[in-house]
Amino acid sequence: MTPGDAPDEALLPTDEDRAADVTVARVEPPVTYALRSRVLRDGAPPERARLPVDDLPDTAAFAATAPDGTVVGTAIVYPEPCPWLPDRPGAWRLRGMATDPGWRSRGVGSRVVAAVVDHVAAQGGTLVWCNARTPAQRFYERAGFRTHGEPWEDPEIGPHIAMWRPL
Ligand SMILES: CC(C)(COP(=O)(O)OP(=O)(O)OC[C@H]1O[C@@H](n2cnc3c(N)ncnc32)[C@H](O)[C@@H]1OP(=O)(O)O)[C@@H](O)C(=O)NCCC(=O)NCCS
Repeated sequence: MTPGDAPDEALLPTDEDRAADVTVARVEPPVTYALRSRVLRDGAPPERARLPVDDLPDTAAFAATAPDGTVVGTAIVYPEPCPWLPDRPGAWRLRGMATDPGWRSRGVGSRVVAAVVDHVAAQGGTLVWCNARTPAQRFYERAGFRTHGEPWEDPEIGPHIAMWRPL
């Protein structure tokens, strides 16, 4: 290529390639606080994104990390009975699902959910449930979740819908 030539489009990394470089792995919960805080807590100090369940021994946190070490996706999952199937053993609750705004719609969130589901299955879990923000409903449906009941309004966070995925 001589100076001034346009770069060959085929050689430029696509958004999908960028997501392919992301590593998804289990991490200590505090690794997820900064992104959680930015995306889900309106930029409150990271410590305010901490949930009491982060300290439970069975809580598993997952982070998607970009090649430069930045955390770009997060979620946690832990055993908690499913409110509408309270007697069903092996229920796990998904929380703190967040992707950095600059990394959305590239499959990062889907890979984090897949890691969560794999973890629950490996632990002998039978279902994963969450209280989803309604704008994320389609995202969860693509990951195999279905809705339960009617949407409701959280006064601080907005509309939610319960969702679950049997394993
Ligand atoms: C919900 C959220 C976590 C999804 O994360 P994400 O990394 O964008 O998720 P994905 O990229 O896997 O999927 C998102 C969309 O991108 C599309 N997509 C996935 N891979 C893609 C790719 N390689 N190229 C283009 N589009 C793609 C999917 O079709 C999906 O569309 P849909 O949501 O309309 O079904 C993210 O939007 C977020 O953090 N939102 C704010 C916080 C929030 O609502 N969290 C959930 C609380 S319950």
